[in-house]
Amino acid sequence: MKLSVVGTGYVGLVTGVCLAEIGHHVTCIDIDEIKIEKMKNSIVPIYEPGLTELMTKNMEEDRLVFTANHEEGFKDADIIFIAVGTPENEDGSANLTFVEEVALSIAKTAKKDTIVVTKSTVPVGTNDRLQILINENKLNTIKVEVVSNPEFLREGSAIYDTFYGNRIVIGSNNEKAVQQLTELYKPLAIPIYSTDIRSAEMIKYASNAFLATKISFINEIANICERVGADVEKVAAGMGLDKRIGSAFLKAGIGYGGSCFPKDTKALIQIAGNVAYDFELLRGVVNVNKKQQRMVFEKLVENLGNLQRKKIAVLGLAFKPNTDDIREAPSIIITNELTKAGAYVCAYDPIATENAKKTLDSSIVYAEKLEDAIKDADAAVILTEWSEIKNMDLNIFKSMKYPLVIDGRNIFELSDIKKLQIEYHSIGRST
Ligand code: UGA
Repeated sequence: MKLSVVGTGYVGLVTGVCLAEIGHHVTCIDIDEIKIEKMKNSIVPIYEPGLTELMTKNMEEDRLVFTANHEEGFKDADIIFIAVGTPENEDGSANLTFVEEVALSIAKTAKKDTIVVTKSTVPVGTNDRLQILINENKLNTIKVEVVSNPEFLREGSAIYDTFYGNRIVIGSNNEKAVQQLTELYKPLAIPIYSTDIRSAEMIKYASNAFLATKISFINEIANICERVGADVEKVAAGMGLDKRIGSAFLKAGIGYGGSCFPKDTKALIQIAGNVAYDFELLRGVVNVNKKQQRMVFEKLVENLGNLQRKKIAVLGLAFKPNTDDIREAPSIIITNELTKAGAYVCAYDPIATENAKKTLDSSIVYAEKLEDAIKDADAAVILTEWSEIKNMDLNIFKSMKYPLVIDGRNIFELSDIKKLQIEYHSIGRST
């Protein structure tokens, strides 16, 4: 099939590349011409393991092309995917400007019957409105069918998730459109769940909100564990054995970050609010996360006291490993608090440093190597569970001025730590 994907962020680019890999002809479209030129030269604008290789392969095999021109990109498309951003408005709602712009552009340029598939996360009812917008603005007598097809891939394992996801959700009441999408995804051998448009839109928000709820829940259990002398890792393992609960997303830490959970939880609270429903539980989840993101800082102050002129090694800045993304990462809040308290922050991240430099306080110094950040530090805080940090030689901590380590991700075994002469605090476990 001939496909077009509008938007070359995580969702759009990974979708485009993976659909090309399973044999379709894909045109990826973005208004950012510089980005398009880079991709034409095999330069991937995001850090995603395996993406450069897969993208280059499919370009070489003539299944993947890039353009900044909507008209050219839509010309032959049987199906057009909308995968542009829906950033957060000031009130927490989703900003639909980009999605609507693309829908209008499709209406004005599509020259043959087309299915428009919305991958962007959009509030319930948006796809119905896009259908009306397109119908009212299309220039030709062609048929355009809008379908909801939310995305469940994770940054850092986006290619794996696309090929081996648990389900593909298709929201449409048009049988022909569902059939065509089922055909499109057939090579992936992933179960398809087909439903109405509004339920499909809600599945996306409800899934992210539920996963965020699991995280905030286990983080609160962790905070109680610390006070009653239990170990949250063991508690989560024991809970996870119950198949009704499941072991995924029960890793206690310093809260969720990234471009999805923080934005989508707030958007769902807004969606509920718009129909006069107070989503009390989800408000709790968001508030717990705010509190949890500060946890490492609180523990540092508790153990070190005044942070003036103290060197603090911040290990990991990305919101999670295998990504260079620091959007809504706990590192933003924690480094802000540290610099405000007069500490000298020396940070290390294997991949996210360039993005961090654009976002974090300019006083932060970035170490080239993990050891350099730790050397002579008064304390070290672990914010991302990068395998480089997880597998480091623990003796490096002995090069600190005072060996105090606050581990926000519980990456070390307590038995290994006990062999060292360091003061170590983690989340929901007592040393
Ligand atoms: C999330 C969802 O997992 C995807 O299914 C969804 O498609 C995506 O949002 C989206 O809406 O686009 P992502 O934000 O890439 O994916 O990352 P996750 O792996 O879900 O992690 C989110 C945050 O939760 C990270 O900060 C991570 O450290 C934290 N987390 C995750 C925990 O603190 N504990 C856990 O047990 C799991």
